[in-house]
Amino acid sequence: MTDAPGATPHAHPAPRAPAADRARDALRRVLGARPALVACAPGRVNLIGEHTDYNDGLVMPLALAQRCAAAAAPRDDGLLRLVAADLAPPGNVFEHDLDATPPDLRGRWQAYALGPAALCAALAGRRVGADVAIASDVPIGAGLSSSAAAEVAVASAVSSLWGVSLPPLDLARLCRRAEHGFAGVPCGLMDQMAAVFGREGHAMLIDCRDNRVEHVPLPRAGAAALVVADSGVRHSLAAGQYAARRAACAAAARALGLASLRDADEATINAADLPRERRDCALHVVRENERVRAFAAAVRAGDLPAAGARMNESHESLRDLYRVSCAELDALVCAARSVPGVFGSRMTGGGFGGCTVTLCAPRAVAPLLAALDDALRAAHGTPCRAFVAASSRGAHVLERL
Ligand code: GLA
Repeated sequence: MTDAPGATPHAHPAPRAPAADRARDALRRVLGARPALVACAPGRVNLIGEHTDYNDGLVMPLALAQRCAAAAAPRDDGLLRLVAADLAPPGNVFEHDLDATPPDLRGRWQAYALGPAALCAALAGRRVGADVAIASDVPIGAGLSSSAAAEVAVASAVSSLWGVSLPPLDLARLCRRAEHGFAGVPCGLMDQMAAVFGREGHAMLIDCRDNRVEHVPLPRAGAAALVVADSGVRHSLAAGQYAARRAACAAAARALGLASLRDADEATINAADLPRERRDCALHVVRENERVRAFAAAVRAGDLPAAGARMNESHESLRDLYRVSCAELDALVCAARSVPGVFGSRMTGGGFGGCTVTLCAPRAVAPLLAALDDALRAAHGTPCRAFVAASSRGAHVLERL
C-alpha cells in the first residue's frame, strides 16, 4: 500500500503534466509573472471516522499522492491576482484588492484561494500582494478534499512568500476558517489537518478534541491495497445536509448536557428522550469513535480482516443511522464486498455521492476494479473511475525559483 502505483487503467484521466508544472506555466503565460516559489498540498482519503471531526472525535485519513500546486510571485500593490490553470478562460482569472471587502464567493473556486490568501495577508502586518496560479490533480468535488488541498497549497505559498510564520496546526486552522468564511461550508478540521500532516507510508490517527496526530504505518504494498472509487455522483444537497447533520449532533450534545458528543455513551443516549434523528446521529458518532480505535489497532497488528470489518460497519452506520450514503455508493460498496480478497469497503468523505474506499489483498485489485465498473454502469449508467491510493507527505514548498 505504501508504494502502490498511483494510477491504474481506470484512474481519473491522467493530467497532461504534474500540477506544479501546470501552475508554474499558467503563472508565466496567463499572468505574465515570474514564479518565486511553488507550494503543494495533497488531497486525502478518509479510511474511517466519518462525521466525527466536528464532534471532537477520532478520524483516520491518509494524504494522497494527488495534490494541488500553487505557484506564486510577489506584488507590491496590494493586489491578489489568481488563475486556475485547469479552467478555461476567461473564468479562470480573478483579481482582488486585498484591502477591499471580499466579494461573496460561495460555490466558486476563487473562495478556496482568496480565502486563505486574505487571512494570511491580514497576518502579514504590512501591505502585501501576489500573483498566484493553482492547478490540481485531486478529483474535484469527489469527497477527496480538493478544497482543503487548494486552501492549504495557497496558504503555504503566500505565507512563505510574505514571510508569515504559520506553524502547521495554525495553517490547518486558518484554512478551515477560510472554508467557513469564504466558501460558506461549516466543515470540521480533518481535511485541512490531513493536507498539512500527511506522511508517506502512514495514515493519520487524529484526535479532533486536542488535534493530536499519531502517524500509523500502513501495511506494505505487497500486503494490502486501498482502492478509491468515484461514484461520479455530486449532490447539490450535500452542503445543506452536512450543516443539518452537524446541527443535529450539536442539539443532541446540548440535550445530554455535554460540550460535544465525544463525551457521550450509548447508555446515556438511549436513556435520553431524544428525537429519533438526533439519537441516531449521536449513536453513529459514539460507535464510529470506537471503530476508529479498533481499526487503528487492527492496522497496527496487521489484522486486515478485522480492519475491513470495521470499515463495513462504518458504512452501514453512515447509511442507516447518519443517512448520508446514496444508492450509487451502496452499489459500489456491495460490489466490492463480493470480490474475493476484499477485507472491507465503505463510503468516504461527507457523503451524498463522492467516493468509496476499499481495503483488499493486492491480488484482488484487478477483479475489484472490474466489479466496481460493472456495478456503477448498472446503478448509474456510467463507468467507474478508480485508483489505487498511494500515501504522500503533507503540504510543503516544492521549489523556490
Ligand atoms: C467533509 C468535511 C470534513 C468531515 C467529513 C465527514 O469532508 O470537510 O470536515 O466532516 O466531511 O467526515
